[in-house]
Amino acid sequence: MNHTIIITGGAGFIGSHVVRRFVKNYPQYRIINLDKLTYAGNLSNLRDIERELNYEFVKGDIVDVDFLYKIFAKYTPNAIIHLAAESHVDRSIQSPMEFVKTNVIGTVNLLNAAKEFWKDHYSENRFYHVSTDEVYGSLGRTGMFTEETPYDPHSPYSASKASSDHFVRAYHDTYGLNTVISHCSNNYGSHHFPEKLIPLAINNIKNNIAIPIYGKGENVRDWLWVEDHARAIDLIFHKSEAGETYNIGGNNEWTNIALIKLLCRIMDNKLDRYEGSSEKLITYVKDRAGHDLRYAINADKLEKDLGWKPSIDFEQGLKLTVEWYLNNQEWLDTITNGSYLEYYNQQYVDRI
Ligand code: NAD
Ligand code: DAU
Repeated sequence: MNHTIIITGGAGFIGSHVVRRFVKNYPQYRIINLDKLTYAGNLSNLRDIERELNYEFVKGDIVDVDFLYKIFAKYTPNAIIHLAAESHVDRSIQSPMEFVKTNVIGTVNLLNAAKEFWKDHYSENRFYHVSTDEVYGSLGRTGMFTEETPYDPHSPYSASKASSDHFVRAYHDTYGLNTVISHCSNNYGSHHFPEKLIPLAINNIKNNIAIPIYGKGENVRDWLWVEDHARAIDLIFHKSEAGETYNIGGNNEWTNIALIKLLCRIMDNKLDRYEGSSEKLITYVKDRAGHDLRYAINADKLEKDLGWKPSIDFEQGLKLTVEWYLNNQEWLDTITNGSYLEYYNQQYVDRI
């Protein structure tokens, strides 16, 4: 099959795993990684595949309509896998408008370009929108999110993702675009930007810095190995019916404090520190505003329809993640000292 797929946000955490998987597993596809390279985009995430013949990077902003139309005209993509987003809840509380621009307007710009360029061929061209479980809001102590759970976003981030989801469904229902949406729970693994809980804690433990735990640490997240998310996206992209929605989750709920205590034990062991030394770094801080108590995904539909299941046990995945960070200290250092923005990403200019 001669396929050109634009993957947006491919220089970020999850996007880089999706790009790597598609470049390696589908040599017959041409993979275009379209990314603005915000603070969260890091091309060194893809150093191992950057010279592959079926891979190309294009630097650009999905908020820029002229740029997007030029890209569609130049590459004539058959499909979009859309991951580009502002993704950090704390930043959305500080600067909501950046989230409206990229997550809402950027998504609608992409939909419009697809609507325009794929006219009369909608069924052959797929628009895959990567959403989050946070659009469903917050659970109490029991229950799980299904694909039928009503939307109830609380943070500016989840409100912006919810809004973009509505536009994607509206373009399917109104114009007949071949769309599909998935809602995934919290991912963890390599190349995770160290502002998020797990990589931030790994970095702090390594450097003997306090680990900030919001509130009482009782909030619950359902953690999934990032490569299992990339595998689910691959399956859904290739096998799902148009207009479908799938939940993706790890069936793996942890309170933040239990997770951090497990991480501390793993780090003590890996760093040859006496047991209990990392736990002393745990510091309770002011809670996140509007902090959702609990997320839990029911992914039965994905298992039943497409045979997907998480592949890896959490403790094993967390150990692999810790090993990756300890073996890739330079990756962390260039982020924490800011130099990744200067010397690696800046050599790319818009190539249109
Ligand atoms: P990330 O912040 O690590 O990466 C986002 C990428 O998008 C970066 O490379 C950034 O440069 C790029 N980007 C941002 N604004 C852009 C713009 N205007 N134009 C082009 N590129 C732009 O995010 P992530 O954690 O990898 O999440 C990827 C997607 O998956 C997001 O849509 C997010 O909502 C969703 N998601 C994330 C998780 C999670 O646990 N991280 C879980 C479920 C869903
Ligand atoms: O559920 C999917 C979502 O998971 C994605 O859509 C988001 O893009 C992604 O960032 C993630 O959102 P969270 O807010 O759940 O992830 P974060 O790593 O920021 O926080 C995880 C939990 O840990 C949350 O309850 C807040 C808490 N936390 C976070 C940080 C950064 C702390 O207690 N201390 C911290 O320093």
